[in-house]
Amino acid sequence: MPLLIRNADIVNADSRTRGDIYIEDETITRIGADLDAPPDTEIIDATGKLVFPGFIDPHVHIYLPFMQTFAKDTHETASIAALIGGTTTFIEMCCPSRLDDALESYQLWKSKADGNSACDYSFHMSVTNWTPSTEGQLREIVADGTSSFKIFLAYKNFFGVDDGEMYQTLMLAKELGVIVTAHCENAELVGRLQQRLLAEGKTGPEWHEPSRPESVETEGTTRFGTFLENTGAHGYVVHLSCEGALNAAIRTKRRGVNLAIESVIPHFLLDKTFAERPGVEGLKYVMSPPLRHKRNNRVLWKALAEGHIDTVGTDHCPFDAEQKLMGEGDFTKIPNGIPGLEERVNLLYTYGVKRGGLPLQRFVDAASTKAAKLFGLYPRKGVIAEGSDADLVIYDPDYISVLSAATHHGNFNYNGFEGTEVDGRPSVVTVRGKVQVRDGQFVGERGRGHFLRREKTY
Ligand code: URP
Ligand code: ZN
Ligand code: ZN
Repeated sequence: MPLLIRNADIVNADSRTRGDIYIEDETITRIGADLDAPPDTEIIDATGKLVFPGFIDPHVHIYLPFMQTFAKDTHETASIAALIGGTTTFIEMCCPSRLDDALESYQLWKSKADGNSACDYSFHMSVTNWTPSTEGQLREIVADGTSSFKIFLAYKNFFGVDDGEMYQTLMLAKELGVIVTAHCENAELVGRLQQRLLAEGKTGPEWHEPSRPESVETEGTTRFGTFLENTGAHGYVVHLSCEGALNAAIRTKRRGVNLAIESVIPHFLLDKTFAERPGVEGLKYVMSPPLRHKRNNRVLWKALAEGHIDTVGTDHCPFDAEQKLMGEGDFTKIPNGIPGLEERVNLLYTYGVKRGGLPLQRFVDAASTKAAKLFGLYPRKGVIAEGSDADLVIYDPDYISVLSAATHHGNFNYNGFEGTEVDGRPSVVTVRGKVQVRDGQFVGERGRGHFLRREKTY
């Protein structure tokens, strides 16, 4: 059945217009004033709402064997939570360990998502070692439509690559025209500092941040930039958390290196005092790079508004409180990660646009359009335009609610933003023309999501 959105206040990253949006067969086919439509058309009146392109989360973990356990969401729970929060596409990190076969892992990750996601999805392929078969396998994975790589400079002996492996990955990426995303922390220093702190009896979650200080992230970010500069590859720093790393990345960009910067919602709103809370409460706030001193929050908001930070993702990586307790008495064993897939858009709208002065169009750009452009999804995704997929978020800017584990939709038992007020919510969300969310409830088709084949990104 065709769908007509009437009286839409259409907000794209570079324009704001009023009109109707007509959708046939998954695609936006007409945008204009007072559009006519056949009698069987479903009509939604968007008066008083904002209409955004479906939001894209460029950094999530759903299936993830990590730190002796598994992240808690399934593709079904994560995608439903994503849609309720306005995210219609996510890009998941496919993360084999150094001992795993890359191609087998890629197929495993795809099989987990296939038929189970209610929203569209894609992958970044992590390169976690370099064996004689790696290059051929990566070529196959790129040919399959996964046109971005991920490397970890952290997590020595598990996901982490050394400089030689980083160089080989970047050279291949350059040849294939695919972008390389990177977790930038110096693994050697993290390991040494962890051991030193533990030896001093400093075992609680409050020591996680001192074990990976800002200088350690700044070093990783600087080194990644230097390798990009000397290989000509395009890069993307994930989950940048602090001023030093930000300045390093900006300096790299100013040298003409093609580098984009992502920061993630916890780093805008939370700070290291959360990990200093007593008992299990502190454990819930351990992620890497760690939550920082709160002076960094303001630095990141400013850099986002000015466009130095390109995208805002989540690094959604949920564990139950019981899993977090695996690291009670040894902070190096706390499963790293904080969830946020459902909350990202409402938090960014509330504390960015509504209460923080973030321009509305920069919000759309950072939460949708820029990721689509960087990762080969644009203009299919990331924009409301004729010919684009009909992924739409009809957003009620006046709906006030409070975030809580008691009401969230993810498959985990705490919420990192428990008790936080939000000022808006998606009231209708469509994925390729099908209404998947209405009035904050999932009403759609489970398993509707497609794997998105992406072209080379440059
Ligand atoms: O703490 C985090 N970030 N967990 C997920 C793995 C990663 O480094 O992205
Ligand atoms: Zn990471
Ligand atoms: Zn991550």
